[in-house]
Amino acid sequence: MAQTTMVAVAILAAGRGTRMKSDLPKVLHRLGGKSLVEWVLGSLSEIETARRLVIVGYRGELITQALTNLEDDAAPNIEFVEQTVQLGTGHAAQQLLTHLKGFQGDLLILNGDVPLLRPQTLKRLLETHREHHNAATILTAQLPNPKGYGRVFCDSQNRLQQIVEDRDCTPAQKQNRRINAGVYCFRWADLAEALPKLTADNDQREYYLTDTVNFLNPVMAVDVEDYQEILGINDRKQLAAAYDILQTRIKDHWMAAGVTLIDPSSITIDDTVGLEADVVIEPQTHLRGKTTIQAGSRIGPSSLIEHSQIGQQVTVMYSVVTDSTVAAGTRIGPYAHLRGHVETGSGCRIGNFVELKNTKLGDRTNVAHLSYLGDTTAGNQVNVGAGTITANYDGVKKHRTQIGDRTKTGSNSVLVAPITIGEGVNIAAGSTVTEDVPDDCLVIARARQVIKPGWKLKAKPEA
Ligand code: UD1
Ligand code: CA
Repeated sequence: MAQTTMVAVAILAAGRGTRMKSDLPKVLHRLGGKSLVEWVLGSLSEIETARRLVIVGYRGELITQALTNLEDDAAPNIEFVEQTVQLGTGHAAQQLLTHLKGFQGDLLILNGDVPLLRPQTLKRLLETHREHHNAATILTAQLPNPKGYGRVFCDSQNRLQQIVEDRDCTPAQKQNRRINAGVYCFRWADLAEALPKLTADNDQREYYLTDTVNFLNPVMAVDVEDYQEILGINDRKQLAAAYDILQTRIKDHWMAAGVTLIDPSSITIDDTVGLEADVVIEPQTHLRGKTTIQAGSRIGPSSLIEHSQIGQQVTVMYSVVTDSTVAAGTRIGPYAHLRGHVETGSGCRIGNFVELKNTKLGDRTNVAHLSYLGDTTAGNQVNVGAGTITANYDGVKKHRTQIGDRTKTGSNSVLVAPITIGEGVNIAAGSTVTEDVPDDCLVIARARQVIKPGWKLKAKPEA
């Protein structure tokens, strides 16, 4: 069996991204739930890579930090290579010479600011590169508006002859709409010989990676099918355009999988979200982070769900749910806020101006009106009366409240934590409960109403 050639990957991420007008390095700007450079790493999912190198420079420590904090499967064994001064993409690639000394294989080089590449496209690029035994294979696209991109010139055999940067083009060259995507596959041994030959003989006085094609043979250009994949992000407008493209992709995917989106253009969904068939998303709703929603649930209108797990047949209206788990058949909203690790049982009802924080509810428990429960554990079939508040904070520390099964708190009761209320308890309306309550009793913790028959205000003495 023929041994397959090894593949290394280098991502160019040392530039500042001047046109972003930002302190943050360009590749750390976020697109949906991930930074640009994370997207680029994600586009490698179909390729087995022996080594992954990221070239960093401008505020490189931020990039190192961001990628080191990722979970291992998203970014395994990344090697960081420093480019201390940014003298161009060719100069960036020159920094690899010592790191990849003796490497026998192919090197994919990806611009860190091209986030929408499909894994399939990279796979196809690599396959073409190998089939034709090319020294370099370069991803290109035919753009309706090629402004700003390097133009690619080929001979009649589709062999690449020259890449000319937009600013170095003659007016005639600018007419060429075939552009360089910033995605390349090189035979490393050949590239390693070409890199030292680069000169900075151009408008920007930079070393261009693209000039290496002048020293390599054969070099082939491969057009991408969907040119939207290769959009490079240089400014905020392009970042917004990429977000639109990404959203269209994600929504098309979920609609094909059986999800109803009502007024899709008003909805946003991160690519980290998972949905089941027969979920309905209503207008003005935003699903973010590691959120999953199970079959038959209806979310929105106007809701935000972030890092949360929503069970089957749940409804959420005009509400915000973050870092929480909602079990089947629970109804949330209008106007509820669940945050900081709330866990609800099944068939609960939470809504009409209710805030829950770090709270666990059993099955069929209701918190239906004007309440705040913080750091609370309530059992099954509890009824939290309108306006019930857990006073969980004594000004220094947070304390827990426990409420047993089938207990009913009266309207406007205050439970001062730490406190444990037993099962089957009834709390009278307006009570301020400060001591633990055993099972099956009635608690009245308020002043008794006083009625004085025949009482009248004394008339003022005449002046
Ligand atoms: C580059 C290509 C251009 C192509 C376009 C596609 C060159 C000379 N030009 O142009 O042909 O059409 O991408 O998007 O390569 N970087 C470094 N070190 C540096 C300079 C840049 O790491 O010294 C990194 C940047 O962080 C960025 C990437 O390289 O991620 C591309 O740099 P950028 O300045 O955006 O190149 P373009 O002008 O867009
Ligand atoms: Ca760019």
